[in-house]
Amino acid sequence: MSSVYRPRRSVLAVPGSSRKMIDKAKGLPADEIFLDLEDAVAPLAKQEARATVADALAEDGWGDQIKVVRVNDWTTEWTYADVVEVVGRAGADLDAILLPKVPDASHVQALDLLLTQIEKANGLEVGRIGIEPQIENAIGLTNIDAIATASPRVQTLVFGPADFMASINMRTLVVGEQPDGYDRGDAYHHILMTILLAARAHRVQAIDGPYLQIRDIEAFRRSAQRTAALGFDGKWVLHPTQIEAANEVFSPRQGDYDRAELILDAYEFHTSAAGGGRGAVMLGDEMIDEASRKMALVISAKGRAAGMKRNTDFVRPDAG
Ligand code: GLV
Ligand code: MG
Repeated sequence: MSSVYRPRRSVLAVPGSSRKMIDKAKGLPADEIFLDLEDAVAPLAKQEARATVADALAEDGWGDQIKVVRVNDWTTEWTYADVVEVVGRAGADLDAILLPKVPDASHVQALDLLLTQIEKANGLEVGRIGIEPQIENAIGLTNIDAIATASPRVQTLVFGPADFMASINMRTLVVGEQPDGYDRGDAYHHILMTILLAARAHRVQAIDGPYLQIRDIEAFRRSAQRTAALGFDGKWVLHPTQIEAANEVFSPRQGDYDRAELILDAYEFHTSAAGGGRGAVMLGDEMIDEASRKMALVISAKGRAAGMKRNTDFVRPDAG
């Protein structure tokens, strides 16, 4: 995880056809906001939504959210015009394109090539705009390593549970809940772990998809906690009330953050010449080593990116 890690604990979906909802989203504390041209926009409204999205992105009034647009997938007739219009008009105000229903690397490569041309034609920095591929079907999951490495623009791998469940004929209509009759374990575990492993192997973020029962915040929280516990970086939110819960669930707990910072300081001191140059050292009752440092680095990076402040300082044994 690099020092430029930008948190995506909460990823707010906003219909690109709704000026009102876009205006409201501008001031919301989601880490990422994506303006949707795909499934939240009816076919007849798609063309007008492109202009709405491009206009809105170029305006003032946004916070420091990561700004993303979801285009339609490459099997439709809309993708190229979505990208040309939105990036051509508002490319400088956009951080990434969310690409749905990616079955293999070719869909990411096609978007990469198109983005590169539009960036060149408009005097934009080539390669700055990222790509967030959505894994939404069996074939996409099978090709996930090739998708993750298809372009240096890939920044995340995003689970699309609704489309995914439809693609594998999973017997439920309630996104995020277990299928009826599956009474043991988590029916999503394999999918989630495959996405997470690919994300970690290729150093991109792993993002969980939506939870559709938007009035049930406790159920949202439970769903978010499961993927946060596995190691996912964030989750989609469909309603402003889910933002705070996602930001909290995907931030380290204060105690874990404090402990991580303590481990980093203690390890640095004890492995230095002044601290004795040791490899494995005691911190309280716990033995810490290089692997402990790596785990602590992850929690520390996420906590710092989320603006957390530590409550306890490491006191060097030789101090005073
Ligand atoms: C999101 O796009 C989903 O299909 O769940
Ligand atoms: Mg989908």
